[in-house]
Amino acid sequence: MHQLQRGAEIADPLAPYLTVDRTQPRHECWVTGHMVAGIDGTAAIDGRVGSLSTAPDQELFRRMRQIADIVLVGAETVRREGYSPVRLSAAAQQARRQLGQSAVPAVAVVSRSLEFDWSAKVFSAAPPTARTLVITCEAADPGRRAEAEKHATVVVAGEERVDPAAALQALADLGHRVVLCEGGPRWLGELVAADRLDELCLSLSPLMGGDPLPVSVAPPGAPLAGFDLLQVMAEDHTLFLRYERQAR
Ligand SMILES: NC(=O)c1ccc[n+]([C@@H]2O[C@H](COP(=O)([O-])OP(=O)(O)OC[C@H]3O[C@@H](n4cnc5c(N)ncnc54)[C@H](OP(=O)(O)O)[C@@H]3O)[C@@H](O)[C@H]2O)c1
Repeated sequence: MHQLQRGAEIADPLAPYLTVDRTQPRHECWVTGHMVAGIDGTAAIDGRVGSLSTAPDQELFRRMRQIADIVLVGAETVRREGYSPVRLSAAAQQARRQLGQSAVPAVAVVSRSLEFDWSAKVFSAAPPTARTLVITCEAADPGRRAEAEKHATVVVAGEERVDPAAALQALADLGHRVVLCEGGPRWLGELVAADRLDELCLSLSPLMGGDPLPVSVAPPGAPLAGFDLLQVMAEDHTLFLRYERQAR
């Protein structure tokens, strides 16, 4: 064990995340999870992330989307958090264009029920260059699927449920190589169980006592997954931890 010493100031909080090499994924795409937890591991307070996220975490959350070819998220998070299309600063958009990426990443939502308010901004306000995707499965209701196709690009990946590997393969086939998963815990848990999580950027907020919902909910029988802690940063009392999946 050793103590961590206070290091150099980081001028740009995104800088440590921009330099990560995400060009060699273990599977279809490189999948980065970005989550915030209380120090007791809670992932929500009264069903929302809101007051769990400190000011420096909120800034990093907005800015992290710059690294993504696509932002992947579970349906319940979209419903509860009132998702909107991704917005980035002019400088971030310019930096992306220079790397051959679209100006902003699209959002992809995973759902079997397809129970959405299709007038919600995440669908109705998405630019044509970053139309929102809905990733669903064969078992989805055909009527709801037809409705979804009016408001989003629908991708079918799996029979009874969305299969994480098939979903990521579909995203890779569409040219999305860096996938930023913003949760929620149930969908993240499925990605971990399928061994598809390459990197986890975890913000630890200095509070306890939220909902009994951990940042990742493992489906029954899922194996353990080990991670290496590669970066530790702090601002005020928020810790920023960056993990990568252990090499086997
Ligand atoms: N702390 C954080 O960083 C963070 C991040 C995100 C969210 N949250 C919080 O987490 C809560 C929501 O998370 P959650 O875990 O309950 O939900 P979630 O993971 O966001 O979404 C679960 C939903 O996604 C769909 N889904 C997941 N796996 C699927 C599969 N294999 N096949 C088909 N559909 C699948 C289903 O949608 P359908 O029901 O439509 O079929 C399922 O009900 C909220 O309180 C939110 O505030 C916290």
